[in-house]
Amino acid sequence: MKQLRNAAHRHIETSPIAGSLGAEISGVDLSADLPEEVLAELRAALLAHQVIFFRGQSLTPERQLAFARRWGEIHLHPFMVGMAEYPEVLEIVKRPTDARNFGGSWHTDQMFAPAPAMGTILYAKEVPSAGGDTMFTNQYLAYEALSPGMQRLCERLRTVCYGDGAKKYGGKTRREFYADKTTMQVKDPGEVQTTSVHPLVRTHPETGRKALYIGGHVQHFEDMEDAESRPLIDFLMAHSTRPEFICRFRWETGSLAFWDNRCTQHFAINDYPSETRIMHRVTVRGDTPF
Ligand code: SIN
Repeated sequence: MKQLRNAAHRHIETSPIAGSLGAEISGVDLSADLPEEVLAELRAALLAHQVIFFRGQSLTPERQLAFARRWGEIHLHPFMVGMAEYPEVLEIVKRPTDARNFGGSWHTDQMFAPAPAMGTILYAKEVPSAGGDTMFTNQYLAYEALSPGMQRLCERLRTVCYGDGAKKYGGKTRREFYADKTTMQVKDPGEVQTTSVHPLVRTHPETGRKALYIGGHVQHFEDMEDAESRPLIDFLMAHSTRPEFICRFRWETGSLAFWDNRCTQHFAINDYPSETRIMHRVTVRGDTPF
């Protein structure tokens, strides 16, 4: 399917921010109870651009959750502690005393889950004076840019994805990785499954397009050792984050990003050492990748 980049909309306006993916949307107040036809236009924009951005929003956690519920059930993070009054909302905080940020490497959300999050809705409460941008990549383009032989090879492979202890965390547990380095709190996932196997190339259930499905949670390929898998994983990570597949979003207080985890990766840049950044994140449950 071709990119649906210039679809006519009656209720919203879309303005792409890069050649690869990402569009700013205007004409929508996300705190309102949006009519179905506006939701349909937002869905078309999300499918066309993979990540959509809104400016100047004013959202309480209740209203952010109400908006997220229009897209599906909420996906709870099995490792990270949510807000006390709103456990479904993850407050992503980095303070001047924190060395690490949350999400500071290329990944797609909750890929370690058997049915990873379909989408993520991230709202900016407080942003640094400069820095703290988020980058996104288009994983349809990453797949399509591979040679036919590499596409065929990738289509036969399945990835084993870890929520804890992956190379992404330097082989540490999440608790060790974040200990003393952030104010965010890690919890024990209990019985929740946090290691999963997925196709390396997935078909988007709504657009029918194939996308490379890779990210920092991938530890090795199914039935292969780490050392055997690593060269190809490293190649695909470098390939799928090439500059021409990327957009970069500069946050303001009140900005909101909604991305489709089924065809993107993202990376929160940690370049504001003496400032504070506070975001509210809600993830929407997805289906089993195929
Ligand atoms: C995340 O990985 O969900 C965090 C993204 C961000 O804070 O920009």
